[in-house]
Amino acid sequence: MNTLALKTAHSSHAAARHEEGADRTAAAVGAATLALDARGVEKSFGKGAIRTHVLKGVDLTVEQGEIALVMGPSGSGKSTLLAAVSGLMRPDEGEVIALGESLWEMRQKALDRFRLKNCGFIFQGFNLFAALTARQQVEVVLKYGGQSPAKRREAAEKALSDVGLSHRLDNRPDRLSGGEKQRVAIARALAKRPRLIFADEPTSALDGENGQIVMQLLRNSAKEQGATVLCVTHDARLAAFADRIITIEDGRITSTNADPAQFAQH
Ligand SMILES: Nc1ncnc2c1ncn2[C@@H]1O[C@H](COP(=O)(O)OP(=O)(O)OP(=O)(O)O)[C@@H](O)[C@H]1O
Ligand SMILES: [Mg+2]
Repeated sequence: MNTLALKTAHSSHAAARHEEGADRTAAAVGAATLALDARGVEKSFGKGAIRTHVLKGVDLTVEQGEIALVMGPSGSGKSTLLAAVSGLMRPDEGEVIALGESLWEMRQKALDRFRLKNCGFIFQGFNLFAALTARQQVEVVLKYGGQSPAKRREAAEKALSDVGLSHRLDNRPDRLSGGEKQRVAIARALAKRPRLIFADEPTSALDGENGQIVMQLLRNSAKEQGATVLCVTHDARLAAFADRIITIEDGRITSTNADPAQFAQH
């Protein structure tokens, strides 16, 4: 009976996968490796004559544990793409399956919970709270994760030490340099050990050495904790840390596996 039930379940599952527009959520879970699967993502801003079509039908997949870089000229739609596939900004068209869940079919509360639980964000512009010290910036996100105060403190100190900021724990943003602020934002994103890490120019304010440290941390998150990293950058030096380079131009993906040599520094 069990065998029959299994067979039936299996064949109906397989049949469903072959149907036009079949449940890709189940397919992604079945494959067990795709952490991100976005199809046909479109986004425009503005109205009428000033309407700009920024994403023109983007397909993007990232495997679990993979570090994918998105590279492309300024204004090509990189940040918009990151926002659409991370659940921050609803696209006009298309579907995004993240960790087997269809993000834009979720209710807002469920989506907020999903992001809180699974996603770490490193933004252009850092988004630090002016009133909080470096340590508190990290502790506050761990609080939402339900950790005890002692554990939060310990994890925050470890995350800040990882980015070389043990000596800046009690500084507020106005007493931090641009690169230090960026490193606090990175510590904050990584401290909760998210399964999905979205980074937008994570090394833009960092010198070569700190840029390398940060990329190594992202690599460790992927290779030791199985996190999936989608990282937007202009910085050709980061190509060495990536598993795959995706290029985008004028709202369209131009390569899903570009040759890193193309980005080697001259
Ligand atoms: N909220 C918005 N309203 C109107 N236009 C927008 C908005 N956000 C982005 N755009 C436009 O969409 C285009 C792509 O922007 P996006 O920020 O995605 O580019 P990018 O590739 O990240 O560029 P950069 O490398 O300079 O950060 C730009 O032309 C920008 O002006
Ligand atoms: Mg951008």
